[in-house]
Amino acid sequence: MSSATGRIIDTILSEIIDLRHELHQHPEIRFQESWTSNRISDALTKWGIPHRTGLGKGTGIVASIAGKPGKTIALRADIDGLEVEEATGLPYASRIPGRMHACGHDGHVANLLGAARVLLECRGALRGTVRLLFQPGEEQGGGARYMIADGALDGVDAVFGLHGSPQFPAGTIAVKSGSLMASADFFRMVIQGKGCHGADPASAIDPVIVAAHITTALQTVVSREVDPRQPAVVTVAHIEAGTTTNIIPDTALLEGTIRSFDPETDALLREAIERIAGHTAQAFRASASVTFGEKAYPPLLNDAAMTELLIDSACRTIGAANVVVLTEPQMIAEDFACYLEKVPGAFFFLGMANEPEAPYPPLHSPYYDFNDTALRTGIGVMAELALRFLSAT
Ligand code: NI
Repeated sequence: MSSATGRIIDTILSEIIDLRHELHQHPEIRFQESWTSNRISDALTKWGIPHRTGLGKGTGIVASIAGKPGKTIALRADIDGLEVEEATGLPYASRIPGRMHACGHDGHVANLLGAARVLLECRGALRGTVRLLFQPGEEQGGGARYMIADGALDGVDAVFGLHGSPQFPAGTIAVKSGSLMASADFFRMVIQGKGCHGADPASAIDPVIVAAHITTALQTVVSREVDPRQPAVVTVAHIEAGTTTNIIPDTALLEGTIRSFDPETDALLREAIERIAGHTAQAFRASASVTFGEKAYPPLLNDAAMTELLIDSACRTIGAANVVVLTEPQMIAEDFACYLEKVPGAFFFLGMANEPEAPYPPLHSPYYDFNDTALRTGIGVMAELALRFLSAT
């Protein structure tokens, strides 16, 4: 990284780490991030960064650092925590029972605030505006769409974001042009049978048997119907039926997730799930009604030119050896994809692992903690990227 950027990071890093720990102690789930939002607003106010609060269903913030007239680059951090009971035993562990920053969004917020500090110091060199998006409800909330509806992308020329990843070593970033993450949606299936005494199965239409057959049959969607060259997932993750040992229940519930990278495969998965569920249920004299989520996450597609800019900036900041260019996409999903549907940009992974041979706790684990040593890398890359984007225009 440029020595000037590195020097600024040196002066702010301990403050940013303290802030990260403070955020970690106060995790809040989707659209309830009031404490977090206020804390971010306080920091922005203290540093003299103008911002609007109350966005994205109430807890989102859009801030801006304006230089000379020019283009606008948006940098985004998600701010929500998860319904997880923390088990790290850290001195700054969650103070809220049943809530935890188990996806490291506390680190994403701290990283963006750190980048904001650097860019504020470099404001004289900015030919354009840096817009900071603090987005609520990434986890199952689709908060990006609410931010966009509230104008977060109005006038924005490019958008960038990151997510911590235990798959890569701290000090590195990983990125890929084109498809980086899958589209995601959930399905919910209610199988209607006919309940009765467990000793009298001939009088029943047993939804448990139907649920078992549908679950098995759904395994053929990806293996027999999807083009083997197209990545896709159908996972049944939740089955629920019955209450006790001697009653055949009326209904069974089946829930799961679907993942793919293109609209055709996505449509195929939906059609096949409905068809297999309906006809399998019918074969056993039952019926099945299938619904899908209303706010599916689209596939995350990185823009080629913006990915190039990101890779170039990262190579200058942390060295080419620390920039991992991926060849395969991942089956996880991110609502950052919604921004990329509107504006070109790129999303990247920030390495979290301390050593390749020492397994780092996975995302959403009660042992996960964003790695503070990655902040220097994340802040440096984000700030350099914004500086380069705005100086090139
Ligand atoms: Ni996350």
